Amino acid sequence: EQPAAEQSAPEQSAPEQSAPSSRASYDPELLAWVREVAALTTPDRIVFADGSDEEWTRITDKLVDAGTFTRLEKKPNSFHCASDPTDVARVEDRTFICSLDEKDAGPTNNWMDPAEMKATMTELYRGSMRGRTMYVVPFCMGPYDAANPMLGVEITDSEYVVASMRVMTRMGARALELINGGARWVKALHSIGAPLEPTERDVAWPCNDTKYISHFPEERMIWSFGSGYGGNALLGKKCYSLRIASAIAHDEGWLAEHMLILKLTSPQHTTHYIAAAFPSACGKTNLAMLEPTIPGWKVETLGDDIAWMKFGDDGRLYAVNPEYGLFGVAPGTGWGTNPNAMRTIEQGNSVFTNVALTDDGDVWWEGMTDQPPAHLTDWHGKDWTPESETPSSHPNSRFCTPIAQCPIIADEYFGPTGVPISAIIFGGRRRDTIPLVTESRDWQHGVFMGATLSSETTAAATGKVGVVRRDPMAMLPFIGYNAGDYFAHWINVGKGADASKLPKIFYVNWFRRDSADGSFLWPGFGENSRVLKWIIDRLDGQAAAEQTPIGHIPAAGALDVDGLELTGDALAKALAVDADEWRAELPLIEQWFDTIGDALPSSLRDELELLRQRLG
Ligand code: PEP
Ligand code: MN
Ligand code: NA
Repeated sequence: EQPAAEQSAPEQSAPEQSAPSSRASYDPELLAWVREVAALTTPDRIVFADGSDEEWTRITDKLVDAGTFTRLEKKPNSFHCASDPTDVARVEDRTFICSLDEKDAGPTNNWMDPAEMKATMTELYRGSMRGRTMYVVPFCMGPYDAANPMLGVEITDSEYVVASMRVMTRMGARALELINGGARWVKALHSIGAPLEPTERDVAWPCNDTKYISHFPEERMIWSFGSGYGGNALLGKKCYSLRIASAIAHDEGWLAEHMLILKLTSPQHTTHYIAAAFPSACGKTNLAMLEPTIPGWKVETLGDDIAWMKFGDDGRLYAVNPEYGLFGVAPGTGWGTNPNAMRTIEQGNSVFTNVALTDDGDVWWEGMTDQPPAHLTDWHGKDWTPESETPSSHPNSRFCTPIAQCPIIADEYFGPTGVPISAIIFGGRRRDTIPLVTESRDWQHGVFMGATLSSETTAAATGKVGVVRRDPMAMLPFIGYNAGDYFAHWINVGKGADASKLPKIFYVNWFRRDSADGSFLWPGFGENSRVLKWIIDRLDGQAAAEQTPIGHIPAAGALDVDGLELTGDALAKALAVDADEWRAELPLIEQWFDTIGDALPSSLRDELELLRQRLG
């Protein structure tokens, strides 16, 4: 029988043919799957991606020729890209967890029976790659030399996806070798759903109005159709490293979380590693790369979006960033707010999607510089001037850039074991109620904080912006199974551990506003180092705290605000625990717990009752 890689159409161009060199050693399951998908989707040709520089050049040249990419004059090896205006964000209402039993998807996920979903999507995939190249993209999430490397193969008909996967994951020959060597791997099938007839001219961003982002957690498999955008299409990221990995983690006793990882060093050279969960577009990348405003403190970056946390032999929880790149929200990222992100992208090797183009061949977006350029081409391809009524860049426009280029990347990022986490921070975007920082009383109370996390929605997903919703552990769109079982898993992780070695859990809110004039009470960005310092000092028993009904907050004078100009009673308002606001929160939490239903661990109901009693 012929391997699928040889079933290419005769008109294929020679340089694109990259048939496996030693077919005999191919993982039989991989070859069978490639054949099966090719028979269904009928691409013109099949290419195994090897992750080489030559391949990158070929793919990006092809994207430039197709009008999808514009090469940037001002940044080396970098490209501007504008998507179809209807394909700009994750589509949560089209995202499905197809567990065998509906109750395993839980009340927070869309569910469809796996057989029904496969039947529906099989018809969508039939012939969907006609006229296109089918790429077989082997990748590894996390280090190749991990004890159990986490592999995957994405089959895709999108060159944009191949290029982006090379930035965002360890992609290519080495991953394929590990798969062929017998390592376990996840099947991730992706089609933009835009077959091309022989005489048809392609568009710059082909996609389909019908979209499905489907997960089969029991089979550890992903099927995505219709979108070329970010989290819908780069399947190693949200689909694998959060939804599928959270299901794996539940079965194996670890945590796959929507968290940044940073290293914090004090002036006394003590080092702590912190993981922090915030919903999309709430500043994870900024916090991960923060430049402390307090003298002598240093932040180094390990990750800005995803943390996999497993117990080490020493009983501590170790975090690894499975990703290889940053897929950051562009607007609001600038020399003032996140200079390290700017220095990262300056080095090139990046893809910018749905931002504006400058006349001299660079990119720009709102918040990059104080003064906008006098003229731009906006993300719709239209002329833009500072007088224009719409922003030049889509609010969810992104930079996609290698994390190794970050000037403050921690050495530990490159190691196989990850870093021992001292503190876990949960945070949301709330204009009221939630104080600047609160320390949990213990692990279970910390899980309660995470499970009841709330945040105003952002442009990172389609739908209304600014609506408060519960976003437990900032994982609402990413939990690959029943949210109640997920909370129980978090509780169990704590029960099974030596409490003295568990990370301490904190809750922060950089976004509280003055009810009088709507202004932010806390300056955020680099000043957030002051909150990190209090957190670390709490771990080391060096900072004072005040007990309140909701947890411990900084005692008067305990938060270092040296040299910080705060107006009036802004700090007091930022830290305040307002019993009335919290009493108003109780029925909302109760409602949320009712939504979770039977699977909600009773200990979280207990925590709610305790909170109610303490509030009096
Ligand atoms: C995305 O939106 O595609 C994405 C990868 O991430 P997030 O929404 O978490 O920013
Ligand atoms: Mn994210
Ligand atoms: Na998004």
